Amino acid sequence: MHQGNQTTISEFILLGLSKHAELQKVLFVLFLGMYLVTMVGNGLIILAISFDSYLHTPMYLFLANLSFADMSSISTSVPKMLMNIHTKSQSISYESCITQMYFFIVFVIIDNFLLGVMAYDRFVAICYPLNYMTIMQPRICALLTVIPWVLSNTVALTHTLLLIQLIFCDSNILPHFLCDLDLLLKLSCSDTTVNEFMLFVIGLSVITLPFALILFSYIHIIRAVLRISSTEGKWKAFSTCGSHLMLVLLFYGTIIGVYFFPSSTHPDDTDKIGAVLFTVMTPMMNPFVYSLRNKDMKGALRKLINRKRFIPL
Ligand SMILES: *[C@@H]1O[C@H](CO)[C@@H](O)[C@H](O)[C@H]1NC(C)=O
Repeated sequence: MHQGNQTTISEFILLGLSKHAELQKVLFVLFLGMYLVTMVGNGLIILAISFDSYLHTPMYLFLANLSFADMSSISTSVPKMLMNIHTKSQSISYESCITQMYFFIVFVIIDNFLLGVMAYDRFVAICYPLNYMTIMQPRICALLTVIPWVLSNTVALTHTLLLIQLIFCDSNILPHFLCDLDLLLKLSCSDTTVNEFMLFVIGLSVITLPFALILFSYIHIIRAVLRISSTEGKWKAFSTCGSHLMLVLLFYGTIIGVYFFPSSTHPDDTDKIGAVLFTVMTPMMNPFVYSLRNKDMKGALRKLINRKRFIPL
């Protein structure tokens, strides 16, 4: 039942990372730097892959998709946070808050599923090298990149439709720098049982499914690699998935860190630091993990930079 005389909230207050005024400038510079590094790094990866036809293989096309999702994911939260620090305002309108939450959910889920797809790709490449091209044909690859988009939008839409039914009346203060679904549910004065149930069920499946795919793929990859008799062959087979494995560890390391080991002494601070790692560090590290360890990516980046030099300005 909606109570008629209750005023509903038209904006939320994002408290941000720190309440200390002198820290705001440091945070601004730090986050602006991380944002620019993420955008430039991932942008270079997409350009390098699209200009180098040698890299038009499923593995690199998935990587380009991951870079795109990373750029989008960080763009949902950090620019707004920077703007709020800059204008010394902490408010975000109800509509913006819901929109931010929607796209944040979408891109985190896409990231998660793409990591699963990339693990499956390495599994096929290492365990079925002769059939790789027939299994990972363009149509299948396109499907594997479209499915995460469809799934993530469905999930985000479900959460959003459930959220907009809720009434916000007492408080509009979010102790965070982005509109997090879990915090919004805690803030609402309606009954959120259904919302929380859906958050749990969908959240669990959206994390477990890709994780199961990654686990399945790597168990088979490791078994296949152990069967190779020469050390050099072993290393060669495994080196193609080393970068991916590092990304997986980074991604799930932060998720596990944030959600399974909340500190008992300063729960809010730890949550926030975890959220920062999750929203900023993972997308930022992706280009470095891939391009610093990978000969082909290094070559493609070198070609891209040399190519720019030849364009007369
Ligand atoms: C994403 O992957 C698809 C199919 O694998 C590919 O056609 C597309 O170019 C990729 N997107 C980007 C941004 O590279």
